[in-house]
Amino acid sequence: MTSIAKAPGKIILFGEHFVVYENRAILGAINKYATVTSEKINTDNILISSSLGQSSIKKDEEVSSVEKKFRPFFYIAKQLISKNGFDKGISIKIESEIPIGAGLGSSSACCVAAAASISNLFGNTNEKEILELSIQAEKTIFPNSSGADCTVSVHGGIIEYQKEKGFSKIDTKNEFNFLIIDSEQIHATDKVVERVKKFKNENTNVFTELCSEEERLITKALESMKNNDLKTIGKCMAQNQIFLEQIGVSNDELLSIIEEIEMITFGAKITGAGDGGCVIALTEEGSDLSEYTNTTKYQTYHVSIQKTGMQVFNS
Ligand code: MEV
Repeated sequence: MTSIAKAPGKIILFGEHFVVYENRAILGAINKYATVTSEKINTDNILISSSLGQSSIKKDEEVSSVEKKFRPFFYIAKQLISKNGFDKGISIKIESEIPIGAGLGSSSACCVAAAASISNLFGNTNEKEILELSIQAEKTIFPNSSGADCTVSVHGGIIEYQKEKGFSKIDTKNEFNFLIIDSEQIHATDKVVERVKKFKNENTNVFTELCSEEERLITKALESMKNNDLKTIGKCMAQNQIFLEQIGVSNDELLSIIEEIEMITFGAKITGAGDGGCVIALTEEGSDLSEYTNTTKYQTYHVSIQKTGMQVFNS
């Protein structure tokens, strides 16, 4: 049997970084996907192939001995092989249309798709277990992960997320449309999160005050999302961007992208870890932004929020 699972990438509308410290965040799943195809094989190896290369590893090797980029997939396969008492190996093929290191949840979507695809090989498609496994897998390369990105990839739609409390779905009448602008400055989430931790430790009062302000902003943003008040949501995004600048995760290039795009959209901010990656701008459905997208030097994507999260298929 071949098991195929696909999982969406994400944007963070509000609360990235603050979510690492028990605050709320609002995330949405987007129509860009990672797909993982897995099969049981007749040798003792875990075979991984992806656009980042190939690897063949004996299934009883330590996860830490594996090249970092392959660790989450090796971890998932190893966990499920052991849990199910399987005496052979697994092949895993990872394909993704989500840009890597851009703040769009590529690594989480790949972890979720891998956990779902391999779990399904053993007849299990329990969302809670797949989510737990994918978060643990992501922690092999990013120990401080809040788990927010994997959660929205499993469940889809727009979610409110808090580390200890978990998630709840936000019911909106509108699907919401965004233009994503990729600065093509690749960032490493773990390094940016470490930098914010340093900022927090050196500026405890400022950080605590920013957490409270972010909290109030999220309450306001949720209200305007429910009322489909795009103008206010855009303003809240612009305000969130100011908080992100204050914790030091923006830069001049991102700011110049934001200044330009917010003149023709409701509002814009970085999404995800920042320090590079993507800017998201809230747009009116069907609005014509071609004058910008045809002339900018940056890669742009129109995305909408996807109600469906991970999906599993057999073939
Ligand atoms: C990364 O997409 C979002 C961060 O808040 C880290 C996390 O939530 O794990 C920066």
